[in-house]
Amino acid sequence: MSDENTKSRTSYDISIVRPRLKHGDFKMRGRDMAPARLKAIKKGLLTLHTLELMATTIYRFQITGEYCDFNRQLIAAMCNEMTHYQDFQVKLYEFGFKPGVTRLAFWFAGFAFGFGSRLLGRKAILKTGIWVESKAVRHYAELLDSIDWDEDTRKIIEKDQADEDSHIDRWRTLLGQTS
Ligand SMILES: [Fe+2]
Ligand SMILES: [Fe+2]
Repeated sequence: MSDENTKSRTSYDISIVRPRLKHGDFKMRGRDMAPARLKAIKKGLLTLHTLELMATTIYRFQITGEYCDFNRQLIAAMCNEMTHYQDFQVKLYEFGFKPGVTRLAFWFAGFAFGFGSRLLGRKAILKTGIWVESKAVRHYAELLDSIDWDEDTRKIIEKDQADEDSHIDRWRTLLGQTS
C-alpha cells in the first residue's frame, strides 16, 4: 500500500513541493568513504536520477491545454518530480559522478506512458500515475534499505519517497471521484 514504506517512520512535509536550498547546502561528498560504499551510492543515485526523469516526462505529457484543476495538479506533480530530478543530479555531481547517458531511454518511456495515457483519458492518466508511483515507492524503499547513504542524501531520498506516496494518495482520491 502507498503508506507502508514512509508514513510510519518519517514526518516530511509533503505540502512543500520544492524545498529551500541554500548556497551552503551544497557540499563535496564521498572522499572519506570506502570504494564499495561509494560504488553502491553511485548506482543508487543513477537509478533515482533516471526514474525521476521518467516521472517528470510522464506528467509533462499528461498535461493538456484545458483550464482545469486536474491540469493544475499534474503541473504541481511535474514540478515536484523536477525537484527530485534536480536533487539527484546535484548529489551525483557532489559525489564526483556524472549522470548516465542511457537515461534518455527513460525519457522515451516517460513519453510513451505520459502521452499514451493522456490519449486514453483521465482515468488512464490516474491509473498510470498510481502504478508508476507505487513502483517508485518500492524502489526507494529498497535503495534506502540496501545502501549506506550519508545523512543529507538519506533525508532527501526519504522526503522524495514521501512525496511519491502523497502522489499515490492524491491520484487514488481523484480516481475515486472520477466516473
Ligand atoms: Fe519523484
Ligand atoms: Fe511522484
